[in-house]
Amino acid sequence: METVTFVLFGATGDLAKRKIYPALYNLFLEQKLPKCFHVIGLGRRELSDEVFQAGVEQSVTQFSRRKANDPVSLKSFVHAFRYQALDIGRKEDYTKLLQRIEQRERELNLTPNRMFYLSVGPEFFAAIATNIKESGLGSAAGWKRLLIEKPFGHDLQSARELNRQLSEAFSEQEIFRIDHYLGKPMVQKLGALQQNNPVLDALWTNRYIANVQITANETVGVEERAGYYDRAGAVRDMFQNHMLQLLMMVAIHLPKNSTPEEVRLKKKKVMEDLVPLHKQDIASHVIRGQYAAGTIQGKSVPGYTSEPNISEASLNDTFIAAKLQIDAPFWRGVPFYIRTGKRLKEKSTRIVVEFKEPLKQQASAQEEKPMPNLLVFEMSPHEGITLQLNTRDPQHQGAFKPIHIDFHSNHQDLPEAYENLLYDALLGKPTFFAHWDEVELSWQWVEPILQAFGDQLVPLHPYPAGTYGPAESDALLAKDGYHWWFDS
Ligand code: BG6
Repeated sequence: METVTFVLFGATGDLAKRKIYPALYNLFLEQKLPKCFHVIGLGRRELSDEVFQAGVEQSVTQFSRRKANDPVSLKSFVHAFRYQALDIGRKEDYTKLLQRIEQRERELNLTPNRMFYLSVGPEFFAAIATNIKESGLGSAAGWKRLLIEKPFGHDLQSARELNRQLSEAFSEQEIFRIDHYLGKPMVQKLGALQQNNPVLDALWTNRYIANVQITANETVGVEERAGYYDRAGAVRDMFQNHMLQLLMMVAIHLPKNSTPEEVRLKKKKVMEDLVPLHKQDIASHVIRGQYAAGTIQGKSVPGYTSEPNISEASLNDTFIAAKLQIDAPFWRGVPFYIRTGKRLKEKSTRIVVEFKEPLKQQASAQEEKPMPNLLVFEMSPHEGITLQLNTRDPQHQGAFKPIHIDFHSNHQDLPEAYENLLYDALLGKPTFFAHWDEVELSWQWVEPILQAFGDQLVPLHPYPAGTYGPAESDALLAKDGYHWWFDS
Protein backbone atom coordinates (compact mmCIF):
# COMPACT_ATOMS: atom_id res chain seq x y z
CA MET A 1 0.00 0.00 0.00
CA GLU A 2 1.28 3.46 -0.85
CA THR A 3 2.20 5.92 1.87
CA VAL A 4 -0.26 8.71 2.50
CA THR A 5 -0.98 11.71 4.67
CA PHE A 6 -4.47 11.35 6.10
CA VAL A 7 -5.90 14.84 6.63
CA LEU A 8 -9.01 14.76 8.77
CA PHE A 9 -11.33 17.78 8.93
CA GLY A 10 -13.60 17.51 11.98
CA ALA A 11 -11.02 15.63 14.03
CA THR A 12 -12.61 16.45 17.38
CA GLY A 13 -16.14 15.56 16.22
CA ASP A 14 -18.37 12.71 17.19
CA LEU A 15 -17.96 10.66 14.02
CA ALA A 16 -14.18 10.77 14.31
CA LYS A 17 -14.33 9.57 17.90
CA ARG A 18 -16.93 6.86 17.48
CA LYS A 19 -16.10 5.52 14.05
CA ILE A 20 -12.99 6.85 12.33
CA TYR A 21 -10.33 6.38 15.03
CA PRO A 22 -11.59 2.95 16.09
CA ALA A 23 -11.72 1.88 12.42
CA LEU A 24 -8.16 3.09 11.81
CA TYR A 25 -7.02 1.31 14.95
CA ASN A 26 -8.50 -2.00 13.82
CA LEU A 27 -6.84 -1.60 10.44
CA PHE A 28 -3.60 -0.87 12.26
CA LEU A 29 -3.92 -4.08 14.32
CA GLU A 30 -4.55 -6.03 11.14
CA GLN A 31 -1.57 -4.37 9.46
CA LYS A 32 -3.77 -2.88 6.81
CA LEU A 33 -2.41 0.65 7.07
CA PRO A 34 0.46 1.93 4.95
CA LYS A 35 3.93 1.98 6.40
CA CYS A 36 4.59 5.36 8.00
CA PHE A 37 0.88 6.04 8.21
CA HIS A 38 0.24 9.44 9.71
CA VAL A 39 -2.74 11.66 10.36
CA ILE A 40 -3.16 15.40 10.67
CA GLY A 41 -6.35 16.15 12.55
CA LEU A 42 -8.01 19.53 12.09
CA GLY A 43 -10.52 21.26 14.30
CA ARG A 44 -11.59 24.72 15.34
CA ARG A 45 -10.10 24.60 18.83
CA GLU A 46 -6.43 25.04 19.71
CA LEU A 47 -5.07 21.73 21.05
CA SER A 48 -1.60 20.37 21.55
CA ASP A 49 -0.60 17.16 19.75
CA GLU A 50 -0.43 15.44 23.14
CA VAL A 51 -3.98 16.37 24.14
CA PHE A 52 -5.25 15.33 20.72
CA GLN A 53 -3.43 11.99 20.92
CA ALA A 54 -4.91 11.39 24.38
CA GLY A 55 -8.39 11.96 22.87
CA VAL A 56 -7.68 9.47 20.08
CA GLU A 57 -6.47 6.94 22.63
CA GLN A 58 -9.60 7.41 24.68
CA SER A 59 -11.93 6.97 21.73
CA VAL A 60 -10.13 3.79 20.68
CA THR A 61 -10.32 2.43 24.22
CA GLN A 62 -14.03 3.21 24.41
CA PHE A 63 -15.28 2.34 20.94
CA SER A 64 -12.91 -0.06 19.23
CA ARG A 65 -14.27 -3.46 18.19
CA ARG A 66 -11.01 -5.09 19.26
CA LYS A 67 -10.02 -4.16 22.75
CA ALA A 68 -6.94 -2.02 23.05
CA ASN A 69 -5.20 -4.19 25.62
CA ASP A 70 -1.66 -3.83 24.36
CA PRO A 71 -0.47 -0.42 25.62
CA VAL A 72 2.68 -0.51 23.50
CA SER A 73 0.83 -0.96 20.23
CA LEU A 74 -1.79 1.60 21.24
CA LYS A 75 0.96 4.13 21.94
CA SER A 76 2.59 3.47 18.62
CA PHE A 77 -0.79 3.93 16.90
CA VAL A 78 -1.59 7.28 18.52
CA HIS A 79 1.93 8.49 17.86
CA ALA A 80 0.91 8.77 14.18
CA PHE A 81 -1.52 11.60 15.03
CA ARG A 82 -0.81 15.33 14.92
CA TYR A 83 -3.20 18.21 15.34
CA GLN A 84 -3.64 21.66 13.90
CA ALA A 85 -6.31 24.28 14.53
CA LEU A 86 -8.00 25.40 11.35
CA ASP A 87 -10.76 27.89 10.63
CA ILE A 88 -12.46 26.52 7.53
CA GLY A 89 -12.90 29.97 5.98
CA ARG A 90 -9.34 31.26 6.63
CA LYS A 91 -6.97 30.92 3.73
CA GLU A 92 -3.86 31.40 5.90
CA ASP A 93 -4.78 28.29 7.90
CA TYR A 94 -4.58 26.19 4.73
CA THR A 95 -1.19 27.65 3.91
CA LYS A 96 0.01 26.70 7.41
CA LEU A 97 -1.46 23.24 6.94
CA LEU A 98 0.40 22.83 3.67
CA GLN A 99 3.68 23.76 5.36
CA ARG A 100 3.02 21.28 8.16
CA ILE A 101 2.20 18.48 5.75
CA GLU A 102 5.26 19.16 3.62
CA GLN A 103 7.44 19.15 6.71
CA ARG A 104 6.01 15.77 7.83
CA GLU A 105 6.42 14.38 4.33
CA ARG A 106 10.11 15.38 4.40
CA GLU A 107 10.69 14.03 7.93
CA LEU A 108 9.10 10.69 7.10
CA ASN A 109 10.40 10.64 3.54
CA LEU A 110 6.94 10.11 2.06
CA THR A 111 5.49 10.33 -1.41
CA PRO A 112 3.10 13.30 -1.22
CA ASN A 113 -0.13 11.31 -1.51
CA ARG A 114 -2.90 13.06 0.39
CA MET A 115 -6.28 11.86 1.50
CA PHE A 116 -8.66 14.58 2.69
CA TYR A 117 -11.52 13.31 4.82
CA LEU A 118 -14.36 15.80 5.39
CA SER A 119 -16.04 14.71 8.62
CA VAL A 120 -17.79 18.07 8.98
CA GLY A 121 -21.22 19.56 8.27
CA PRO A 122 -22.23 19.58 4.59
CA GLU A 123 -22.31 23.38 4.55
CA PHE A 124 -18.49 23.30 4.71
CA PHE A 125 -17.81 20.75 1.94
CA ALA A 126 -17.53 23.20 -0.95
CA ALA A 127 -15.46 25.79 0.93
CA ILE A 128 -12.95 23.18 2.07
CA ALA A 129 -12.57 21.70 -1.41
CA THR A 130 -12.00 25.16 -2.90
CA ASN A 131 -9.45 26.05 -0.25
CA ILE A 132 -7.62 22.75 -0.76
CA LYS A 133 -7.28 23.67 -4.39
CA GLU A 134 -6.40 27.34 -3.95
CA SER A 135 -3.84 26.76 -1.20
CA GLY A 136 -1.90 24.24 -3.28
CA LEU A 137 -2.68 21.41 -0.83
CA GLY A 138 -4.09 19.45 -3.72
CA SER A 139 -1.29 20.11 -6.19
CA ALA A 140 1.46 17.82 -4.90
CA ALA A 141 3.16 15.31 -7.17
CA GLY A 142 1.39 12.31 -5.57
CA TRP A 143 -2.27 11.41 -5.73
CA LYS A 144 -5.07 13.12 -3.85
CA ARG A 145 -8.45 11.79 -2.72
CA LEU A 146 -11.48 13.38 -1.13
CA LEU A 147 -13.59 11.35 1.27
CA ILE A 148 -16.90 12.95 1.92
CA GLU A 149 -19.69 12.13 4.35
CA LYS A 150 -23.38 12.42 3.65
CA PRO A 151 -25.67 14.27 3.18
CA PHE A 152 -24.65 14.95 -0.40
CA GLY A 153 -27.08 17.80 -1.07
CA HIS A 154 -30.57 18.49 0.20
CA ASP A 155 -32.31 17.87 -3.12
CA LEU A 156 -31.41 17.38 -6.79
CA GLN A 157 -30.48 20.98 -7.41
CA SER A 158 -28.29 21.43 -4.33
CA ALA A 159 -26.60 18.06 -4.95
CA ARG A 160 -25.76 19.15 -8.49
CA GLU A 161 -24.42 22.45 -7.25
CA LEU A 162 -22.28 20.73 -4.61
CA ASN A 163 -20.94 18.32 -7.18
CA ARG A 164 -20.11 21.17 -9.53
CA GLN A 165 -18.16 22.92 -6.75
CA LEU A 166 -16.30 19.78 -5.71
CA SER A 167 -15.44 18.89 -9.27
CA GLU A 168 -13.57 22.17 -9.66
CA ALA A 169 -11.05 20.84 -7.14
CA PHE A 170 -11.28 17.04 -7.52
CA SER A 171 -12.07 14.73 -10.42
CA GLU A 172 -14.80 12.08 -10.11
CA GLN A 173 -12.09 9.38 -9.70
CA GLU A 174 -10.71 11.32 -6.75
CA ILE A 175 -14.03 11.71 -4.91
CA PHE A 176 -15.05 8.90 -2.56
CA ARG A 177 -18.63 9.56 -1.38
CA ILE A 178 -19.26 7.58 1.76
CA ASP A 179 -22.51 5.72 2.17
CA HIS A 180 -21.72 3.62 5.21
CA TYR A 181 -24.32 1.01 4.22
CA LEU A 182 -22.01 0.08 1.35
CA GLY A 183 -19.34 -0.69 3.92
CA LYS A 184 -21.47 -3.22 5.80
CA PRO A 185 -19.95 -6.66 5.32
CA MET A 186 -23.21 -8.31 4.21
CA VAL A 187 -23.89 -5.57 1.67
CA GLN A 188 -20.39 -6.11 0.27
CA LYS A 189 -21.12 -9.82 0.00
CA LEU A 190 -24.37 -9.47 -1.97
CA GLY A 191 -22.73 -9.21 -5.38
CA ALA A 192 -20.22 -11.94 -4.64
CA LEU A 193 -22.94 -14.32 -3.49
CA GLN A 194 -24.93 -13.92 -6.66
CA GLN A 195 -21.84 -13.97 -8.89
CA ASN A 196 -20.24 -17.07 -7.43
CA ASN A 197 -23.28 -19.25 -6.84
CA PRO A 198 -24.94 -20.42 -10.02
CA VAL A 199 -27.88 -21.56 -7.92
CA LEU A 200 -28.56 -17.98 -6.85
CA ASP A 201 -27.64 -16.45 -10.16
CA ALA A 202 -30.17 -18.66 -11.91
CA LEU A 203 -32.94 -17.67 -9.51
CA TRP A 204 -32.26 -13.93 -9.65
CA THR A 205 -35.10 -13.08 -12.02
CA ASN A 206 -38.80 -12.32 -12.19
CA ARG A 207 -39.38 -15.91 -13.25
CA TYR A 208 -38.81 -17.07 -9.68
CA ILE A 209 -38.90 -14.01 -7.46
CA ALA A 210 -42.27 -12.70 -6.28
CA ASN A 211 -41.08 -9.58 -4.44
CA VAL A 212 -38.12 -8.10 -2.61
CA GLN A 213 -38.45 -6.37 0.78
CA ILE A 214 -35.78 -4.01 2.05
CA THR A 215 -36.16 -2.93 5.66
CA ALA A 216 -34.10 -0.66 7.89
CA ASN A 217 -35.95 -0.33 11.18
CA GLU A 218 -34.44 1.69 13.98
CA THR A 219 -35.38 2.06 17.64
CA VAL A 220 -33.57 5.37 18.09
CA GLY A 221 -35.45 8.63 17.71
CA VAL A 222 -34.25 12.00 16.50
CA GLU A 223 -31.62 12.15 19.32
CA GLU A 224 -29.61 15.37 19.40
CA ARG A 225 -29.94 16.00 15.69
CA ALA A 226 -33.24 17.90 15.63
CA GLY A 227 -31.88 20.76 13.51
CA TYR A 228 -30.71 18.44 10.76
CA TYR A 229 -33.34 15.72 10.97
CA ASP A 230 -36.38 17.96 11.00
CA ARG A 231 -35.30 19.33 7.63
CA ALA A 232 -34.22 15.96 6.24
CA GLY A 233 -36.79 13.41 7.36
CA ALA A 234 -36.55 9.70 6.66
CA VAL A 235 -36.72 10.30 2.94
CA ARG A 236 -33.49 12.30 2.78
CA ASP A 237 -31.75 10.79 5.80
CA MET A 238 -32.10 7.10 4.83
CA PHE A 239 -34.17 6.53 1.71
CA GLN A 240 -32.39 8.61 -0.96
CA ASN A 241 -29.01 7.14 -0.03
CA HIS A 242 -28.82 3.95 2.08
CA MET A 243 -32.09 2.37 0.96
CA LEU A 244 -31.62 3.04 -2.74
CA GLN A 245 -28.05 1.79 -2.50
CA LEU A 246 -29.35 -1.46 -1.00
CA LEU A 247 -31.84 -1.70 -3.84
CA MET A 248 -29.06 -1.25 -6.42
CA MET A 249 -26.84 -3.80 -4.70
CA VAL A 250 -29.54 -6.46 -4.61
CA ALA A 251 -30.89 -5.82 -8.11
CA ILE A 252 -27.64 -5.79 -10.10
CA HIS A 253 -26.58 -8.80 -12.11
CA LEU A 254 -22.82 -8.92 -12.17
CA PRO A 255 -20.58 -10.84 -14.50
CA LYS A 256 -17.81 -12.79 -12.76
CA ASN A 257 -14.78 -10.68 -11.75
CA SER A 258 -16.46 -7.41 -12.62
CA THR A 259 -14.36 -4.28 -12.47
CA PRO A 260 -15.43 -1.35 -10.26
CA GLU A 261 -16.42 0.42 -13.46
CA GLU A 262 -18.74 -2.43 -14.46
CA VAL A 263 -20.33 -2.50 -11.01
CA ARG A 264 -21.00 1.22 -11.23
CA LEU A 265 -22.49 0.99 -14.69
CA LYS A 266 -24.80 -1.82 -13.57
CA LYS A 267 -25.88 0.17 -10.53
CA LYS A 268 -26.50 3.19 -12.70
CA LYS A 269 -28.61 1.04 -15.02
CA VAL A 270 -30.79 -0.09 -12.10
CA MET A 271 -31.46 3.54 -11.25
CA GLU A 272 -32.17 4.40 -14.87
CA ASP A 273 -34.64 1.52 -15.10
CA LEU A 274 -36.43 2.44 -11.90
CA VAL A 275 -39.95 3.41 -12.95
CA PRO A 276 -40.33 7.10 -12.10
CA LEU A 277 -43.18 8.10 -9.83
CA HIS A 278 -45.05 11.24 -10.74
CA LYS A 279 -46.12 13.66 -8.08
CA GLN A 280 -49.76 12.59 -8.36
CA ASP A 281 -48.83 8.85 -7.99
CA ILE A 282 -46.90 9.29 -4.78
CA ALA A 283 -49.85 8.90 -2.43
CA SER A 284 -50.61 5.43 -3.84
CA HIS A 285 -46.98 4.21 -3.78
CA VAL A 286 -45.44 5.90 -0.76
CA ILE A 287 -46.46 5.82 2.89
CA ARG A 288 -45.32 8.61 5.13
CA GLY A 289 -45.37 8.37 8.91
CA GLN A 290 -44.33 10.18 12.05
CA TYR A 291 -43.86 8.58 15.46
CA ALA A 292 -46.18 9.34 18.32
CA ALA A 293 -45.46 8.57 21.97
CA GLY A 294 -45.16 4.89 22.81
CA THR A 295 -43.08 2.23 24.50
CA ILE A 296 -39.94 0.63 23.15
CA GLN A 297 -38.50 -2.36 24.94
CA GLY A 298 -40.36 -1.43 28.11
CA LYS A 299 -39.37 2.26 28.04
CA SER A 300 -41.83 5.10 27.40
CA VAL A 301 -40.65 7.56 24.79
CA PRO A 302 -42.16 10.86 23.67
CA GLY A 303 -43.68 11.48 20.26
CA TYR A 304 -41.64 13.23 17.57
CA THR A 305 -43.25 16.64 18.05
CA SER A 306 -42.51 16.53 21.79
CA GLU A 307 -38.80 15.92 21.21
CA PRO A 308 -36.45 18.77 22.22
CA ASN A 309 -36.10 21.42 19.50
CA ILE A 310 -38.83 19.96 17.28
CA SER A 311 -41.82 22.19 16.65
CA GLU A 312 -45.19 20.88 17.79
CA ALA A 313 -46.48 21.56 14.31
CA SER A 314 -43.72 19.65 12.51
CA LEU A 315 -44.93 17.58 9.55
CA ASN A 316 -41.61 15.85 9.10
CA ASP A 317 -41.52 12.18 8.12
CA THR A 318 -39.79 9.75 10.48
CA PHE A 319 -41.01 6.72 8.51
CA ILE A 320 -41.31 5.97 4.84
CA ALA A 321 -42.44 2.86 2.99
CA ALA A 322 -42.57 2.66 -0.78
CA LYS A 323 -43.26 0.32 -3.65
CA LEU A 324 -40.79 0.52 -6.51
CA GLN A 325 -40.63 -1.22 -9.87
CA ILE A 326 -37.66 -1.83 -12.13
CA ASP A 327 -38.52 -1.80 -15.80
CA ALA A 328 -35.87 -4.27 -16.99
CA PRO A 329 -36.15 -7.81 -18.36
CA PHE A 330 -35.00 -9.50 -15.13
CA TRP A 331 -37.25 -7.51 -12.84
CA ARG A 332 -40.37 -6.52 -14.73
CA GLY A 333 -43.39 -7.25 -12.52
CA VAL A 334 -41.41 -7.76 -9.28
CA PRO A 335 -42.30 -5.15 -6.65
CA PHE A 336 -39.46 -3.91 -4.48
CA TYR A 337 -40.85 -2.73 -1.15
CA ILE A 338 -38.66 -0.46 0.91
CA ARG A 339 -39.28 0.83 4.41
CA THR A 340 -37.30 2.65 7.02
CA GLY A 341 -38.20 4.53 10.15
CA LYS A 342 -37.24 5.68 13.60
CA ARG A 343 -38.64 4.60 16.96
CA LEU A 344 -39.80 1.25 15.62
CA LYS A 345 -40.11 -1.96 17.55
CA GLU A 346 -36.59 -3.24 17.00
CA LYS A 347 -33.38 -2.49 15.21
CA SER A 348 -33.25 -4.61 12.10
CA THR A 349 -31.78 -4.13 8.67
CA ARG A 350 -32.52 -6.89 6.20
CA ILE A 351 -33.39 -7.80 2.66
CA VAL A 352 -35.97 -10.53 2.13
CA VAL A 353 -36.29 -12.14 -1.27
CA GLU A 354 -39.65 -13.90 -1.48
CA PHE A 355 -39.96 -16.55 -4.16
CA LYS A 356 -43.02 -17.40 -6.19
CA GLU A 357 -45.18 -20.26 -5.01
CA PRO A 358 -46.10 -22.67 -7.80
CA LEU A 359 -46.79 -25.39 -5.20
CA LYS A 360 -49.34 -23.21 -3.47
CA GLN A 361 -51.09 -22.48 -6.72
CA GLN A 362 -51.28 -26.20 -7.48
CA ALA A 363 -52.71 -27.16 -4.08
CA SER A 364 -56.46 -27.69 -3.93
CA ALA A 365 -58.70 -25.52 -1.77
CA GLN A 366 -58.80 -28.10 1.05
CA GLU A 367 -55.10 -28.85 0.99
CA GLU A 368 -52.74 -27.26 3.38
CA LYS A 369 -50.39 -24.87 1.59
CA PRO A 370 -46.62 -24.58 1.87
CA MET A 371 -44.85 -21.38 2.92
CA PRO A 372 -43.01 -19.43 0.24
CA ASN A 373 -39.28 -19.93 -0.07
CA LEU A 374 -37.46 -16.97 1.38
CA LEU A 375 -33.87 -15.90 1.14
CA VAL A 376 -33.01 -13.44 3.89
CA PHE A 377 -29.91 -11.30 4.13
CA GLU A 378 -29.55 -9.87 7.63
CA MET A 379 -27.29 -6.90 8.20
CA SER A 380 -28.33 -5.84 11.64
CA PRO A 381 -28.41 -6.51 14.56
CA HIS A 382 -26.54 -9.68 13.45
CA GLU A 383 -25.17 -10.59 10.11
CA GLY A 384 -26.54 -13.73 8.52
CA ILE A 385 -28.20 -15.47 5.62
CA THR A 386 -31.25 -17.70 6.00
CA LEU A 387 -32.99 -19.82 3.42
CA GLN A 388 -36.52 -20.93 4.21
CA LEU A 389 -37.51 -24.22 2.60
CA ASN A 390 -40.52 -26.49 3.03
CA THR A 391 -40.54 -30.05 4.17
CA ARG A 392 -43.21 -32.39 5.52
CA ASP A 393 -43.20 -33.49 9.09
CA PRO A 394 -43.72 -37.26 9.32
CA GLN A 395 -44.55 -36.93 13.00
CA HIS A 396 -47.54 -34.68 12.26
CA GLN A 397 -49.35 -36.55 9.50
CA GLY A 398 -46.94 -35.22 6.95
CA ALA A 399 -47.96 -31.58 7.49
CA PHE A 400 -45.87 -28.88 5.84
CA LYS A 401 -43.06 -27.66 7.99
CA PRO A 402 -40.80 -24.74 7.06
CA ILE A 403 -37.14 -25.35 7.85
CA HIS A 404 -34.39 -22.76 7.93
CA ILE A 405 -30.87 -23.11 6.67
CA ASP A 406 -28.98 -20.54 8.65
CA PHE A 407 -25.59 -18.96 8.42
CA HIS A 408 -24.59 -16.41 11.02
CA SER A 409 -21.22 -14.66 11.23
CA ASN A 410 -19.34 -14.34 14.43
CA HIS A 411 -20.20 -10.77 15.37
CA GLN A 412 -16.86 -10.06 17.06
CA ASP A 413 -14.84 -10.87 13.99
CA LEU A 414 -16.76 -8.68 11.60
CA PRO A 415 -15.13 -5.46 10.50
CA GLU A 416 -17.20 -2.34 10.98
CA ALA A 417 -18.44 -0.55 7.86
CA TYR A 418 -15.89 2.25 8.34
CA GLU A 419 -12.98 -0.21 8.44
CA ASN A 420 -13.95 -1.63 5.07
CA LEU A 421 -14.51 1.81 3.59
CA LEU A 422 -11.30 3.38 4.88
CA TYR A 423 -9.29 0.41 3.73
CA ASP A 424 -10.77 0.62 0.23
CA ALA A 425 -10.23 4.37 0.10
CA LEU A 426 -6.56 3.92 1.07
CA LEU A 427 -6.22 1.40 -1.73
CA GLY A 428 -8.12 3.66 -4.12
CA LYS A 429 -10.87 1.07 -4.71
CA PRO A 430 -14.10 2.89 -5.57
CA THR A 431 -16.57 -0.04 -5.78
CA PHE A 432 -18.24 0.57 -2.44
CA PHE A 433 -18.54 4.32 -2.71
CA ALA A 434 -21.43 6.20 -4.29
CA HIS A 435 -20.62 7.46 -7.77
CA TRP A 436 -22.06 10.82 -8.76
CA ASP A 437 -24.31 9.16 -11.37
CA GLU A 438 -25.96 7.08 -8.63
CA VAL A 439 -26.36 10.05 -6.33
CA GLU A 440 -27.82 12.22 -9.06
CA LEU A 441 -30.25 9.54 -10.28
CA SER A 442 -31.32 8.83 -6.69
CA TRP A 443 -32.13 12.48 -6.06
CA GLN A 444 -33.91 12.64 -9.38
CA TRP A 445 -36.06 9.63 -8.46
CA VAL A 446 -36.81 10.99 -5.00
CA GLU A 447 -37.56 14.55 -6.15
CA PRO A 448 -41.32 14.03 -6.84
CA ILE A 449 -41.64 12.48 -3.36
CA LEU A 450 -40.04 15.55 -1.81
CA GLN A 451 -42.42 17.77 -3.76
CA ALA A 452 -45.48 15.71 -2.88
CA PHE A 453 -44.50 15.69 0.80
CA GLY A 454 -43.76 19.42 0.68
CA ASP A 455 -47.15 20.14 -0.91
CA GLN A 456 -48.86 17.88 1.65
CA LEU A 457 -50.26 15.62 -1.07
CA VAL A 458 -49.45 12.54 0.99
CA PRO A 459 -51.09 11.98 4.38
CA LEU A 460 -48.75 11.90 7.36
CA HIS A 461 -49.77 8.85 9.41
CA PRO A 462 -48.90 8.87 13.08
CA TYR A 463 -47.65 5.55 14.50
CA PRO A 464 -47.01 4.71 18.12
CA ALA A 465 -43.32 4.34 18.95
CA GLY A 466 -42.46 0.65 19.43
CA THR A 467 -44.54 -0.62 16.47
CA TYR A 468 -43.62 -1.42 12.87
CA GLY A 469 -44.90 1.92 11.58
CA PRO A 470 -48.34 2.94 10.37
CA ALA A 471 -50.87 0.28 9.38
CA GLU A 472 -50.90 1.84 5.88
CA SER A 473 -47.43 0.38 5.36
CA ASP A 474 -48.92 -3.12 5.80
CA ALA A 475 -51.79 -2.19 3.48
CA LEU A 476 -49.28 -1.21 0.76
CA LEU A 477 -48.18 -4.85 0.52
CA ALA A 478 -51.58 -6.35 1.29
CA LYS A 479 -52.96 -4.72 -1.89
CA ASP A 480 -50.59 -6.99 -3.84
CA GLY A 481 -51.29 -10.05 -1.70
CA TYR A 482 -48.08 -9.82 0.35
CA HIS A 483 -47.03 -8.87 3.86
CA TRP A 484 -43.82 -7.70 5.48
CA TRP A 485 -41.92 -10.71 6.72
CA PHE A 486 -40.69 -11.07 10.29
CA ASP A 487 -42.87 -8.42 11.95
CA SER A 488 -43.86 -10.16 15.12
C1 BG6 B 1 -27.28 7.46 9.24
C2 BG6 B 1 -28.50 8.27 9.50
O1 BG6 B 1 -26.78 7.70 7.95
O2 BG6 B 1 -27.59 6.07 9.38
C3 BG6 B 1 -29.04 7.99 10.89
O3 BG6 B 1 -28.18 9.66 9.38
C4 BG6 B 1 -29.27 6.51 11.07
O4 BG6 B 1 -30.24 8.71 11.13
C5 BG6 B 1 -28.04 5.71 10.67
O5 BG6 B 1 -29.58 6.28 12.43
C6 BG6 B 1 -28.35 4.23 10.66
O6 BG6 B 1 -27.18 3.50 10.47
P1 BG6 B 1 -27.04 2.00 10.99
O7 BG6 B 1 -25.72 1.55 10.50
O8 BG6 B 1 -27.15 2.05 12.49
O9 BG6 B 1 -28.20 1.23 10.41
